[in-house]
Amino acid sequence: MRRFDDQTVLVTGGTGGQGSSHVRAFHAEGANVVIGDIDAERGAALADELGARARFIHLDVTDESSWSAAVLAAESAFGALTVLVNNAGVQNPPALIEKTDQATWSRILDINLTGTFLGMRAAAPALRRATGGAIVNIASTMGLGGTAHYAPYVASKWAVRGLTQTAALELGRDHIRVNTIHPGVIATPFIQEPAAGATAAIADFYSPEPFAIPRLGEPTDVTRLLLFLTSSDASFITGSEYVIDGGLLLGPALQAETA
Ligand SMILES: NC(=O)c1ccc[n+]([C@@H]2O[C@H](COP(=O)([O-])OP(=O)(O)OC[C@H]3O[C@@H](n4cnc5c(N)ncnc54)[C@H](O)[C@@H]3O)[C@@H](O)[C@H]2O)c1
Repeated sequence: MRRFDDQTVLVTGGTGGQGSSHVRAFHAEGANVVIGDIDAERGAALADELGARARFIHLDVTDESSWSAAVLAAESAFGALTVLVNNAGVQNPPALIEKTDQATWSRILDINLTGTFLGMRAAAPALRRATGGAIVNIASTMGLGGTAHYAPYVASKWAVRGLTQTAALELGRDHIRVNTIHPGVIATPFIQEPAAGATAAIADFYSPEPFAIPRLGEPTDVTRLLLFLTSSDASFITGSEYVIDGGLLLGPALQAETA
């Protein structure tokens, strides 16, 4: 018996660097997987690769009707929906607050925050029909402190924390657990390619060298934590925040001269 046999998992941003790793791992552990994303080409290719227990659904997380269709598609294809991973997210082009236009602010908040709200709102009744399940909202280490030049993203990820804790309180009695994961810097297109409107990618100026574990995170690092949090091994965990950052939030690991 695999950990996710007879379960159905919906992953938003499911074709991205981390999302596709999550989708593949849930599938390998027995789950039916619903890949929600706006990238239809990559979504269809991943669903084809995985076969009968996988579906791609065109899901723009900012769109209410797109969400109803995704949940309906998951239930019609596979029966009960038991896990939702709100993973879709975008970064703003770096800029001071005073140089950040309202359209950029709204776009980042719409995808990262409103998308997570709409996802939980659409999926909660389905998880209740399944008699319980788990939601994980992907936040960021940037949701635990300030970061210059990233105000929209930082604000969106801080807000996801409050939303998550509120949902955990509202859904606990229905056997639905809700937690956040806060990745540090993970090697995906998110850091390897410039954000929309930006000229440089994060990987062009960020180095993990000063930190306790001096490497970039891999998508599979986050996937392993996600599978634990959504599995029955985590049945007493809700409203909690999991940092996975190789020590980034600790600050530089200064190597003192020793005798
Ligand atoms: N990579 C990192 O360093 C890092 C660090 C902390 C947190 N995160 C978070 O991890 C999550 C996954 O990011 P990633 O690293 O895999 O990035 P990625 O760019 O590889 O993937 C993001 C995915 O989201 C999808 N997406 C964008 N807008 C969407 C929308 N409106 N509706 C549906 N899907 C949409 C994209 O098509 C893409 O597949 C994001 O929430 C991101 O904020 C990433």
